[in-house]
Amino acid sequence: MKLTDSKKDQFRRLARDQGYRSRSAFKLKQINQSYRILNKGDCIVDIGCAPGGWMQIALHEVGTKGKVIGVDIKKIEPLSNTFNIQGNIEDEHVTDNILKISNSCVDVVLSDLSPNVSGNWELDHARQIDLTRNALRLSNIVLKKRGKAVFKVFQGDMLNELVVELKKKFKKVILTKPNASRQVSSEIYLICLDYNPI
Ligand SMILES: C[S@@+](CC[C@H](N)C(=O)[O-])C[C@H]1O[C@@H](n2cnc3c(N)ncnc32)[C@H](O)[C@@H]1O
Repeated sequence: MKLTDSKKDQFRRLARDQGYRSRSAFKLKQINQSYRILNKGDCIVDIGCAPGGWMQIALHEVGTKGKVIGVDIKKIEPLSNTFNIQGNIEDEHVTDNILKISNSCVDVVLSDLSPNVSGNWELDHARQIDLTRNALRLSNIVLKKRGKAVFKVFQGDMLNELVVELKKKFKKVILTKPNASRQVSSEIYLICLDYNPI
């Protein structure tokens, strides 16, 4: 067995033992431990939420006074005390629903969006960056001033340009790779702080 597979297995086992729907849950958990993105009472929008691992972490962190809104093309098993919107993030009804449910006050946008991967690194990178741009467009509509965002991206040629775009909207943009993310994976997470819409 390869080392990378053993790390994947380790987090898969942990997720099963601790009742998380995905091993990705540990990535958000580690990001939150380092950067305190999620706080009690926050309203969180989780884009690309299926099967719901990140939503479970978010729900725990925001507590009963907070709100968690998950969006995905795929249907998810209902998760108590959360809202779910099934749809493509490019669709207007998705944005409208988020605004309605959140009362136009979103504290944090989370995006773990992934395209269907083809195995062609450059193609997958381009598709993923395109998805992230859509997530940023959506954030520009729903996120409150001084809000935060976390965007998963696939590394490659187009990343620098995206970071430049993000820096026009957020005062601070930090690139990080949590321990739960395999080293061989091209994914990296952009922690975006202090949203400034102008
Ligand atoms: C890696 S999974 C997310 C895992 C999730 N964070 C968790 O912990 O359970 C990525 C998700 O992005 C979703 N996705 C991809 N393109 C999308 C789009 N245009 N609109 C909404 N969801 C999309 C996929 O359906 C997939 O479920």
